[in-house]
Amino acid sequence: MKIIMLGAPGAGKGTQAKKIAAEYGIPHVSTGDIFRANIKENTELGKEAKSYMDKGQLVPDELTVKILLDRVAKDDCKKGYVLDGYPRTIPQAEVLDKAVKELNEKIDYAINVDVPDENIINRMSGRRACVKCGATYHITFMPPKKENVCDNCQSQLIIRDDDKPETVKNRLKVYHDQTQPLIEYYKGQGILKEVDGTKDIDVVFEDIKSILNA
Ligand code: AP5
Ligand code: MG
Ligand code: ZN
Repeated sequence: MKIIMLGAPGAGKGTQAKKIAAEYGIPHVSTGDIFRANIKENTELGKEAKSYMDKGQLVPDELTVKILLDRVAKDDCKKGYVLDGYPRTIPQAEVLDKAVKELNEKIDYAINVDVPDENIINRMSGRRACVKCGATYHITFMPPKKENVCDNCQSQLIIRDDDKPETVKNRLKVYHDQTQPLIEYYKGQGILKEVDGTKDIDVVFEDIKSILNA
């Protein structure tokens, strides 16, 4: 099963993608996580990506597309995958379509997690992330067992550099300009599904499962 998660920054794409990956036994592929891992390791790619991410801008398509294609070509993706944060532009979607088509395969669902802008800034300010294993928490909605410590790997949790309110506002603008058109794009392909992302995390996941199990 190949699934794309769509939605604004902070809509809960990552939260739901991790649950889908665990439930259906497919890898969770997040371009944002790949970039953050490279920033942490201080690679050339990380340095370049950081210069865009810190401003809330998109990393250029040339870089992003290559990273995504390399990742989905790995063996573990043969059984499918859930993409989180890719595609973010129409050209990125077209590259993915072409790659999938060349393998005689198809994307099964594009799930749009719908959350209005008003709710987003609030969510972002409470987000805490583990840079080591990628787990995400929220101080109110999904707190870790021990304050500021990852439940999975006991690492210290951090606030993402791009979660400052000014940067979040810019990410939202970029989302509306460049990423939201993908909703129509996948509607046109007949694979778009919508869920209300303002509900509780577990309720959103139930809604997603009923789509995937239908
Ligand atoms: P990326 O890491 O993809 O960030 P994003 O899309 O901005 O999305 P977020 O990770 O911020 O939000 P999310 O939807 O995953 O929400 P989450 O589940 O964490 O990208 C970062 C940057 O990398 C981009 O700005 C860009 O520069 C670059 N980049 C990445 N991919 C790229 C690409 N393809 N092309 C170009 N550039 C790219 O949830 C948010 C918070 O809310 C959490 O604290 C969570 O616990 C909480 N929460 C989740 N669901 C609920 C709920 N139902 N109720 C209450 N709280 C909830
Ligand atoms: Mg995310
Ligand atoms: Zn961790």
